[in-house]
Amino acid sequence: MKKYFLFVLSAAVLIGVSSCSKNNETADLKNDKNSAGDIVAKGKELFYTSSKLTGLKCADCHSDGTNKENLNTKYFADVIGADKRQTVFAGTITGDEVKNTGAGSSVCWETFVKMGRPITTEEIQAFNAYFGSLSKGESNVMKHTTIALPKPDKAKLKEDQNRIAALTPDIKNGERIFKETCNFCHGGTTVKRVPSLFEDFEGNLKSIVYHIRIGAKFMPFYPYEIISDQDIADISEYILKNQKK
Ligand code: HEC
Ligand code: HEC
Repeated sequence: MKKYFLFVLSAAVLIGVSSCSKNNETADLKNDKNSAGDIVAKGKELFYTSSKLTGLKCADCHSDGTNKENLNTKYFADVIGADKRQTVFAGTITGDEVKNTGAGSSVCWETFVKMGRPITTEEIQAFNAYFGSLSKGESNVMKHTTIALPKPDKAKLKEDQNRIAALTPDIKNGERIFKETCNFCHGGTTVKRVPSLFEDFEGNLKSIVYHIRIGAKFMPFYPYEIISDQDIADISEYILKNQKK
């Protein structure tokens, strides 16, 4: 008797669950068909929207495969298929957090772009959808090493500063890198609220190393694989030798 009851109960539950999930599936499919294109378009629109506060947009730093002529994008990870990476942001965001943050988009929204309001769940989903739409299934995990994350490593910074001070700089290479990336913020007028590095600059080699390796306000940090110690020595020479007195 008891057995029979259990059997009926579980059969009923099974039927209930399967019919219920079937209904949901068809509803989801319908939804997907209507909104898949819209949500990708929304993600793309956000990717190209400039912040009123800084003038920066995602596409200023990251490539979606179509904006590579902006050499600044060479210095940051591309976003093609970023929603499917196991880990982003130099290993500090992993697992479910990749999807929940739009592969780190929420961090950039707050830290670098400064959109002036919190990102919404819909916007995170739109970024995921856009990044997914750009990918043909290739896996391109960025394995960057940085001392900026998870929190600034000041002891390592000191070692970096000493190592870099001992190198012989190549000013031409420094000028090239400066013009490709630093100048995007420090040289133009598109990005607002950025100090000049050639007039009234009171820094030195140490402060340049600090800013490149750790970042400051909305200035991004640069991992070791992107800008090497030698590159920093070269950029520093270019900045310090071009001071307007
Ligand atoms: C000033 C430059 C800058 C801007 C603007 C910027 N980011 Fe980022 N972004 C970074 C840096 C630095 C990292 C971490 C290092 C790396 O991955 O290149 C990063 C990482 C990411 C990653 C993870 C890549 C990976 O595989 O590690 C994604 C995705 C991303 N940003 C999306 C966005 C989106 C979306 C926006 C616009 C809301 C945006 N970013 C704006 C600098 C920027
Ligand atoms: C996305 C824009 C952006 C990019 C790209 C950028 N910076 Fe900056 N940088 C800033 C901002 C904003 C500040 C001001 C930070 C603050 O006030 O704390 C700054 C500050 C600095 C300072 C300190 C200036 C001072 O007066 O003390 C140095 C040095 C510096 N950046 C060097 C660089 C170098 C070198 C590069 C290229 C490798 C670079 N920056 C790329 C935005 C940027």
